[in-house]
Amino acid sequence: MKKYVMNRRQFMRYLGYGGIFLASQPLLSACRSFINEQPTAVFEGEPDLEIRLTAKPGERQIFPGPATEVWRYQGEVLKGPSDSLVSIPDSYLGPIFRVKTGTRLRVHFENELPEKSIIHWHGLHVPDHADGHPRLAVEHGETYVYNFRVMDRAGTYWYHPHPHGRTGPQVYSGLAGLFLVHDDGEASLDLPVGDKDLPIVIQDRVFNSENQMVYNTFGMMSQMLGMLGDEILVNGVPDYEIDVERSAYRLRLMNGSNSRIYKLAWEDGTPIHVIGTDGGLLEKPVLRDAITLAPAQRIEIWVDFGNWQPGTTLRMINLPSSAPDSGREMPIFTVTVQDTEQKPVTLPETLTRHEPLDPSQADNVNKLRSFTLQMGRGMRWAINGRQFDMTDVASDEKVQLGDIEVWEFYNQGGTAMPTGGGMSQPHPMHVHGLQFKILERQIDPGEERAYQSLQEGFVDEGWHDTVLVMPGERVRILMQFKDFSGLYLYHCHNLEHEDMGMMRNYQVKNP
Ligand code: C2O
Ligand code: CU
Ligand code: CU
Repeated sequence: MKKYVMNRRQFMRYLGYGGIFLASQPLLSACRSFINEQPTAVFEGEPDLEIRLTAKPGERQIFPGPATEVWRYQGEVLKGPSDSLVSIPDSYLGPIFRVKTGTRLRVHFENELPEKSIIHWHGLHVPDHADGHPRLAVEHGETYVYNFRVMDRAGTYWYHPHPHGRTGPQVYSGLAGLFLVHDDGEASLDLPVGDKDLPIVIQDRVFNSENQMVYNTFGMMSQMLGMLGDEILVNGVPDYEIDVERSAYRLRLMNGSNSRIYKLAWEDGTPIHVIGTDGGLLEKPVLRDAITLAPAQRIEIWVDFGNWQPGTTLRMINLPSSAPDSGREMPIFTVTVQDTEQKPVTLPETLTRHEPLDPSQADNVNKLRSFTLQMGRGMRWAINGRQFDMTDVASDEKVQLGDIEVWEFYNQGGTAMPTGGGMSQPHPMHVHGLQFKILERQIDPGEERAYQSLQEGFVDEGWHDTVLVMPGERVRILMQFKDFSGLYLYHCHNLEHEDMGMMRNYQVKNP
């Protein structure tokens, strides 16, 4: 069913191939030297769900011929409902978590990689010791234990490694998985469930002629742009195909790429009903002709395949845009409509209610902070001129527990550098530990062109943990620092920018 044309290595483009092959990792056996049990109890007593998640080298048959060496998460339910983990067949991706809001979760993360790692629960509101800060990274053979109650609303969250300087290569090797949260409000809606609720994790990779993944961030250009691949994988599979019934589906689109920004659309121009963003369902569905999906972002769409005749093949494509390496159209996945009975379906008019943080509160916020994104010393990306330091928190990076704040990210754009061009890059900015609202965007005069090509696909409604900040743009976000004090991160989710230091701590202080 999955066809593959053996001509894929033609474009090597501007990545300056020196060739680091992940294949050269030493073979390791599971030598558990000691168990570093770090109790992080935020709930009393026993968990409802207990899981062992192991990160280790392995291989996957991605193409005909040699298997591809990958790093992957393997999961096991130790206690609780066995369907809390769903593995994706034939994929290097980690198992999908399926939990209900309120679940008391314990995860034993076992590191069997040949280097340090730690797991971050991207988008979840968790205590700082469960957030996967790089200072908590554990060595090969060690275990880190997470204890937290899932407090977030129904939505599509995810998990991935977060060791300092190595997040990019570890995610690229295959370490990532979805974390789906369900709640009663969602269950009361008539949304597609079961085999009509589909994860679509989009990633790009470069493969060499031996089918091995190539991660190469040497050279000026790739430092500027990050790691861009010429092969698109969906759920770990090239040329992804889905057979659908003539009924409604919920597609959970996630950009799991290191650096690539997508502008997604149906090839026939059918408008897209968006029902959710990073932090779960929107209040009401919104309609877009295309959707812009930056690294780490999720957008959920609702689509009624009953609108097409049986036998129709429909493609989701990446439209040309100003995003790096996006000059041409690219297929993402193909849907084939089966000859089934057409079921009458309706998209709910109201999905959820967003409480209690609302943009109207922005008028009486405690503080406005601004963060300028620019090229810093040594040609490395920086935030307010600073780069990541494991424990350093500047005075303008300290917030009070309970406060509502507006943060402004200003991407200084190309005008600040005489060389222009490559010096201005889009930055998908991510804040750990919470979901925020997007208040407003403002674009500098002269920078409108690149901006406009992606702007039509922005879905700024709803809750977000990652927002794309285009060159010359200021984006204001509104958020509240609730429940937990401690050390969290904010950073660019272009993983190569992050690994190069475009990341900082922020501290939530308990007054
Ligand atoms: Cu998904 Cu700190 O990141
Ligand atoms: Cu995160
Ligand atoms: Cu960036």
